[in-house]
Order: sequence, then C-alpha cells, then structure tokens
Amino acid sequence: MSSRLQRMLRQAELVLRRRRSVRAARHAAQAPSLPPVSPVWPLPIRGDGWSATALQQRLDAFPEWHYAFRFDAGVGVEVRYRSGAPARAADHPLQRFAHFMPPLLAAAGGSLTGKRVLDIACNAGFWSIQCALLGAAEVVGLDGRPELVEQARLLQSVVGARCARFECLDFFDMTPARLGTFDVVLNLGLLYHLPDPLDVLRRSLAMTSRLMLLDTMLDPRTEALVKLRWEMPVDVRMATRDGIVAYPTRKAVHLMLRHLGAASVTEIPVRSMQVPGVYLEGRRASWLIETAAAGPPLDVPSASV
Ligand SMILES: C[S@@+](CC[C@H](N)C(=O)[O-])C[C@H]1O[C@@H](n2cnc3c(N)ncnc32)[C@H](O)[C@@H]1O
Repeated sequence: MSSRLQRMLRQAELVLRRRRSVRAARHAAQAPSLPPVSPVWPLPIRGDGWSATALQQRLDAFPEWHYAFRFDAGVGVEVRYRSGAPARAADHPLQRFAHFMPPLLAAAGGSLTGKRVLDIACNAGFWSIQCALLGAAEVVGLDGRPELVEQARLLQSVVGARCARFECLDFFDMTPARLGTFDVVLNLGLLYHLPDPLDVLRRSLAMTSRLMLLDTMLDPRTEALVKLRWEMPVDVRMATRDGIVAYPTRKAVHLMLRHLGAASVTEIPVRSMQVPGVYLEGRRASWLIETAAAGPPLDVPSASV
C-alpha cells in the first residue's frame, strides 16, 4: 500500500473516532444517572503486621504492575510493564469503576452484600478486592499468571479481605464443577486475549447463576465481525501464551450473546466523558448479561442484529 493511501486511511480513521467521541458525549449527556458507588481508595492497610516501609518494599520488588495501587500512609506503586509499553493513566481503573460498577450494583439488587463473585482473569486483584470491600460474601479471583496471583494475595493480606481467595488457573480449566457457580461473574479485559469469543462467553456464562459483567475491547466496525490478531505474552496485560486472539465488533457480541440464550443483554451506556478514550471511540464497551431463564426478554437493539 502506498504511503499516501496509508495516510488517507489513517486520517479517515481519526475522523471516524472523533465522530464516535462526539456521539458518545451526546449520549453521556442523556444517559440516566445511577446511585453513586465509590471505590475504596486509597486501599486501607488493615492486615496484621504490615508497616508502610515493609509494604513499599514488597510492592517495589515486583518487576511489573498493571495498576497504580495507592494505599494509606502514602504507600503506592506505579504501572510498569517488562515490555516497556507506556503506562496507562493512574486513574484508568477508577474511571472504569465509575463506568460499570454503579450499573452492576444496580443490576445486583443495589449491593454485592451476601453475593458470591467470580473475577475471571483477576490480574493483581483490583476488582476482586473492591468487590470484597463492597460487601461480597465470597470472592474468587483467578488468573493464569502465578506472579499476578502472588500480587493479589499480597493485596488481600494488606487490606485484610478475608472473604477473597485467589487461584492460579488457566481460563480453560475453569468449570462450575471446580469452583461452583456465582451470583456475579466479572469477565473484564479478557475476551480479546483469547482465540474464540463464543467459547469464552459460553464458558463464562456457565459460571453464573444470574449475572455477568462483560468489559471488552472491540473492533469498531459496524458489521458482525471478529478480527483475528496474533498476540505474544510480552507482559502481564496479555495472553498467557503465543497465539491467535479475537476482537469482536459490538454487533458480533450481541449476536453471540443471543446465540447463547442470554435472558437479557444491556450495554452499559457511557454516562460521562471521564472514561478512558477507547469507550468514547467505540473501541471498548461493557455489558450486563442476565442468565436467569425467567428474566426479561432479550434486549438487543434492533440496529445490532
Ligand atoms: C488486560 S488484563 C485484564 C485484567 C483485569 N481483568 C481488568 O480488566 O482490569 C488480562 C488478564 O488476563 C489474564 N489471562 C490471559 N490469558 C489467560 C488465560 N488463558 N487464563 C487465565 N488468565 C489469563 C492475564 O494474565 C491478565 O491478567
């Protein structure tokens, strides 16, 4: 492809992204507000035996961190990847929290109190720990990387979240027979690190008796497509092994969830401009998916099928 054509394609892509952001801003202004839910931040140091100095040393000893954790007493760590990839803004997970946690809690009946929560691909446990601090009865976090499970267990011991436990488990070894089923399943930031999104959604939905929160990168095109890429496990954000990964379009996600017989599928609207740019540009989105057979009819926007 000539460099002139490449430049023109890049410019067209930029124009499209800008249009999507403007549309998102309009939707954000119209979206209904929800009861606010705040993350527990900075994280408390409640676990036995942790001094600020000892904790800071333990955090610093890890070569990689996917989140910029902040704790009481000014203890903290910055995002860093062994691949040298640029760190995302420190408030990235907090913006995602504001985007999808209030709708999740509303769909769960107002709170996580008493709920059993599964955090698939939990990384360092950011979401698991927040769910535990928000009152979940039991939280299971799983990730395929042992060093991340070690980080999550460190956080748990610091915060004193006794109801959380973390397992090093490959996604494909996750079954209801092994872990039981859960009131709430979090499938965040994983779909596009695995090769077959229909299989991933089927396996994830099998883990919940009621509700799943899905948050994923998308291919921004408007048709029902799945784009394949090759991914290498260059750092803790990525697939755990070399291979194909798949980016579905928004319409493909709706079709797959419909195919799997979800009782209700609701895309979480962008309600604020204070979200990571990928949500504004239509390259990432989140859904609440209810599996209960007696739930309301499938809510698939007519434009998407
Ligand atoms: C982009 S991070 C998402 C972390 C977190 N769920 C979030 O959304 O903030 C992707 C995570 O998926 C995990 N992962 C990738 N492939 C996996 C697999 N086959 N089994 C278990 N975990 C996997 C990685 O180790 C990494 O922690």
